[in-house]
Amino acid sequence: MKLWEGRFDQPTAPDADAFNESLSFDKALYRCDITASIAHATMLGACGILSKEESDKIVAGLKSILSDIEEKKLAIEGYEDIHSFVENHLVKRIGDTGKKLHTARSRNDQVATDFRLYVRESALRVKETVRSLIKALLALSEAHYDDIMPGYTHLRKAQPISVSQFFNAYAEMFLRDMDRLNHTYRSANVMPLGSGALAGTSYPIDRNLTKELLGFDSVTNCSLDGVSDRDFVAEYLFSCSLIMAHLSRLAEDTILYTTEEFGFFEISDAYSTGSSIMPQKKNPDIPELVRGKTGRVYGHLMGLLTAIKGIPLAYNKDLQEDKECLFDAEETVLKCVGIYAEMLGHVTLKTERMEEAAGSEFTTATDIADYLAKKGLPFRTAHAVTGKIVRHCIEKGITFSDLSVEAYKEFSPIFEEDILSVVDARNSAASRTCAGGSSPSSARQSLASILERLKSL
Ligand code: ARG
Repeated sequence: MKLWEGRFDQPTAPDADAFNESLSFDKALYRCDITASIAHATMLGACGILSKEESDKIVAGLKSILSDIEEKKLAIEGYEDIHSFVENHLVKRIGDTGKKLHTARSRNDQVATDFRLYVRESALRVKETVRSLIKALLALSEAHYDDIMPGYTHLRKAQPISVSQFFNAYAEMFLRDMDRLNHTYRSANVMPLGSGALAGTSYPIDRNLTKELLGFDSVTNCSLDGVSDRDFVAEYLFSCSLIMAHLSRLAEDTILYTTEEFGFFEISDAYSTGSSIMPQKKNPDIPELVRGKTGRVYGHLMGLLTAIKGIPLAYNKDLQEDKECLFDAEETVLKCVGIYAEMLGHVTLKTERMEEAAGSEFTTATDIADYLAKKGLPFRTAHAVTGKIVRHCIEKGITFSDLSVEAYKEFSPIFEEDILSVVDARNSAASRTCAGGSSPSSARQSLASILERLKSL
């Protein structure tokens, strides 16, 4: 039975029904819907709007529906949406008293409440997966303080860095993502129930009691806004999008570093794939899929932002479009982050190859310029002198460590014996000891700080 059929002469056309329905996807809200209805019925009883017996009967009926769904004794099907499904089944179970559940409530404030309950839980689910990814990154960071690799800008070798610093960088991004999910949780944690269809209700309800029963922080302050606000969905999708942006960058680095050309990382066979024609191939399908799926999560954010644009106050059916995008974004992020955390546990670092790469292509040029500047030469002049040394080496087909002290002195009399240790890649990385720097000691401090902040998220 439709919740609204009284006014209609004719049944809805089957194709209109199929187009309008949301049960096929909002069934994911069954637990939130029943939980919110239990709180609502309890409040109606406490306020004397329903008798204690009626309220108890409704609550018991709702609980039996919930357990039957969870025990797979009751399939969610056959109605327009999850709200109609639950209410109809309640009436089937407890008779006319069930028809009182919807007193002082509309599906508009009901669905807004259900979805906020869902988003709250989902934000925590995603946050915990991100935590597992950070832990996997930190395990690699911890194992590789004393190893060095080239750091890149413009994807050209720039300066030697501690390998830890590479993993710390991603851990920092994901820490911010966790924090953003906490914020998303807070945005969702406001209760719209009591807003009615749009204008509130004349029944003497106690919104605070329902809020307490559902564990919300506060109640919405304006009924029109309460039923039509979906900012929290946009925020959730943005949080997911940024997680995917960060993960996609990590995927790109992983793909590059596992190429024959770089050869820094090796993904174990268990997380790699092959080619149907080229027997030698070992392909990074997992990072590639993660990079690709980023697009669909961004798409959901754009879809939702576009759907809510230009909707007149207050509730309009357009808002039903807030759900599938979020469910798919959640599933995608959970899968991508989850598999990445697992895969990182199966990545081997080829540290010798990384160290060798860290020391080639003049990655310590900045150190030479800094050496001269620290001995009094203005930095710009020191930069120019070092540039000439680089050119000289390129022309001769040699590198900094092939030059003698005398050869250095020809470029500037400031050079002394100690220049030979300055051009060493390990010393270069070790010298950047400022807070947040790329030396092993700074990377170790960064890691300690990440671990500390992770505890409080
Ligand atoms: N399935 C609807 C949604 O998700 C539930 C609310 C229906 N409200 C209404 N006035 N038709 O938005």
